[in-house]
Amino acid sequence: MRILAIESSCDETAAAIYDTKKRKLCANVVVSQIDIFKSYGGVIPEVAARSHLEAILPVIDKAFADAGLTVAGENDWAQIDAIAVTHTPGLLGSLLIGTLTARTLALVHQKPLYLVHHLKSHIYSCWIESGEQPEQFPVLALVVSGGHTQIIKMWSAQKFAVIGTTMDDAVGECFDKIAKILGLPYPGGPAISQAAARGERERYQFPHPKVEGLNFSFSGLKTAVLRLVQKECGVGLDYPSKDLQKLLQPQQVADLAASFENCACEILLEKLQKALVENPEVKTVMIAGGVSANGLLREKALAKLRGVTVLFPPRGFSGDNAAMVALAAAGEIAAGVQPADPRKVEILPRSEIR
Ligand code: KG4
Ligand code: ZN
Repeated sequence: MRILAIESSCDETAAAIYDTKKRKLCANVVVSQIDIFKSYGGVIPEVAARSHLEAILPVIDKAFADAGLTVAGENDWAQIDAIAVTHTPGLLGSLLIGTLTARTLALVHQKPLYLVHHLKSHIYSCWIESGEQPEQFPVLALVVSGGHTQIIKMWSAQKFAVIGTTMDDAVGECFDKIAKILGLPYPGGPAISQAAARGERERYQFPHPKVEGLNFSFSGLKTAVLRLVQKECGVGLDYPSKDLQKLLQPQQVADLAASFENCACEILLEKLQKALVENPEVKTVMIAGGVSANGLLREKALAKLRGVTVLFPPRGFSGDNAAMVALAAAGEIAAGVQPADPRKVEILPRSEIR
């Protein structure tokens, strides 16, 4: 079976074609809007939606062409057996473009339509290379992105329970906000990592939040970095944060980036270690979502999470893409999940994983 998957939940327009029988990714096209949002320093929802509208059909056409499914300049729909799309959570206008396109294509070409949860796709991204799920459940997943920071216990490939979540900012959001303070470009994660490579991790210490159970908090860390920068620059609390970057030396930026990155990774892994102590039957941990591209997080996770298998998405699949949507839909189809009614597509900006 071949699945055409579409992803448009934030600022990437993506389409992929996955062959479930061969477990082969036949096409994977991602068009990022990063260049547009670099000048704004963040995503503007209306602009993102308009960019998705422009990109979505060319992206789908390219997926057909890359998969060798274009015949005489036309997409060969006879070769596609199902359509999958991210319908929640995400930016409403962005989700609308992907879901509306997917349901129209499903109706016109009479294909079953699968609506996939974004966090589920991120988790499935860990299985893109092998095409195989872990043999033994339950497993734990840490999903770290621009909108989410959650520890999810998976009883099976289809059954989830959120056992820890952020009380305020997501960790990716924190990377993005601190990058802004330090004068580093959007998206903040890769920019912070790059700056941190020249910095000293131990130069600054930040307090770890005291949050109950397996939950997280990142707004305190963001404020702690801001206060430290203000102190280092010799300015008061009312000094505009956007002007601080002018007062910082390059080495200070590198040291602040390295110390913050180190602290954020420690906070994430502390809770994951606690989750493993509380769930000793778990033998596999997956770390997925945009922040899972972080080299230090990967290095520290492998060093600290002993006695369990730690899986990450392959390079290039941590951020939003449609290959993971196809894989999640393939999992649903294999588990006997029924397709959605294309006339009743539900789009939710927020929702629990399911
Ligand atoms: O999963 P994703 O692409 O989109 C959402 O679903 O939110 O995640 C985007 C987030 C951004 O906050 C970005 O700064 C962060 O992932 N990110 C990173 C890295 N690459 C992307 N954070 C830390 N280190 C990275 N290397
Ligand atoms: Zn994402």
